[in-house]
Amino acid sequence: MKLNAHIASLPAGYLFAEIGKRVKAYQTAHPDADLIRLGIGDVTRPIAPSVARVFADTALKMGTPEGFHGYAPDYGYNFLIDAIIRADYAPRGVSLKPEEVFISDGAKPDVGNLQELFGADARIAVTDPVYPVYVDSNAMAGRLGSFDGGRWSGLCYLPCTAENGFIPPLPPEHVDVIYLCYPNNPTGTVLTKDQLKVFVDWALKEDALIVYDAAYKAFITEKDIPQSIYEVPGAEKCCIECCSFSKTAGFTGVRCGYMIIPTSVTGTVGNERVSLNRLWQRRMSTKSNGVSYPVQCAAAQVFAPDGHREVMESISYYLNNASVIRTGLEKAGCRCFGGVNSPYVWMQTPDGMKSWDFFDLLLDKAHVVGTPGEGFGPSGEGYFRLTAFNTLEKTKEAVERVTGVL
Ligand code: MLT
Repeated sequence: MKLNAHIASLPAGYLFAEIGKRVKAYQTAHPDADLIRLGIGDVTRPIAPSVARVFADTALKMGTPEGFHGYAPDYGYNFLIDAIIRADYAPRGVSLKPEEVFISDGAKPDVGNLQELFGADARIAVTDPVYPVYVDSNAMAGRLGSFDGGRWSGLCYLPCTAENGFIPPLPPEHVDVIYLCYPNNPTGTVLTKDQLKVFVDWALKEDALIVYDAAYKAFITEKDIPQSIYEVPGAEKCCIECCSFSKTAGFTGVRCGYMIIPTSVTGTVGNERVSLNRLWQRRMSTKSNGVSYPVQCAAAQVFAPDGHREVMESISYYLNNASVIRTGLEKAGCRCFGGVNSPYVWMQTPDGMKSWDFFDLLLDKAHVVGTPGEGFGPSGEGYFRLTAFNTLEKTKEAVERVTGVL
């Protein structure tokens, strides 16, 4: 039986699976080590009380004739779609039609699956370092050539480092798709509206698509930073935006996200212009049976006044952790980025240490788990990511331990 050679030839494991494997091996060899995990960005705060209540109530009502719901609509219930349009977009001056919002089981599946709409030979650009799903999902489809010396031969890398202030350069040649994520995972940095406009203008001129991952938008604290790419004029013609309840509302285990595909975004098939919205509808109705009713009710509660207040308390809690990490590391002489509009702090490794070596050092000497920058791409080498998603107590303890081994 013939298998997918592109998946078979992917390098190593998926980044967070690889880290999990190494941590498990360490824990087995050192069962008494009290590890603090600031690696994968998984939340620790419980689901907001009013959101959990709606979730439980609607789940219980599924056991009654009146409250039972079968298959959910393929693209999401109108009550959730309307809440998103009204509470998440209208206040920013963005008007959307209901058919432009697609509810899913999360932003990771959305950004991973979206590439099914791209031509087999579509040219892809990513910021570097980058959330690995954009790269790996395109590599699985055979779009990125071969992997040599830590780089894909067919991928256009847009390096983001301290030297350019983490502002990605424009692609040096034509590409069909650019992935942007702001607030950025992994660097925690943001772009202003003017900086994003440069990309939107370029995409319009080049007939390229921007896939904009806004999973961390709830963490934006600075007023002039846009929460949606559609705050930039012209974005409605060339951008798809992916959003998530995972980090906003603690849904990493519940699973719910949404993707905005304006009907005005088109690409080419031969000489014809085709709507990506139409293609995604076609794909989704074939491959998905939607997201469960209780999950969508719980997600809608995130936009209700009490739900919103509760989830923003958790966001503030995590942002305070981020500030504890950044301040503590800076006091110890580290160069740090992010952590202001983001739950991620991106630090330069001490003395130019390789990021996987720093990972091993922290694991062994500080019993702290982080994420090596190189796992996010070649320009991540020499950097290390720490998440603010643990408890305040453990975050403080982790900072003490890390600074103790620097
Ligand atoms: C991360 O740590 O980068 C994220 O948790 C991964 C994800 O959201 O899938």
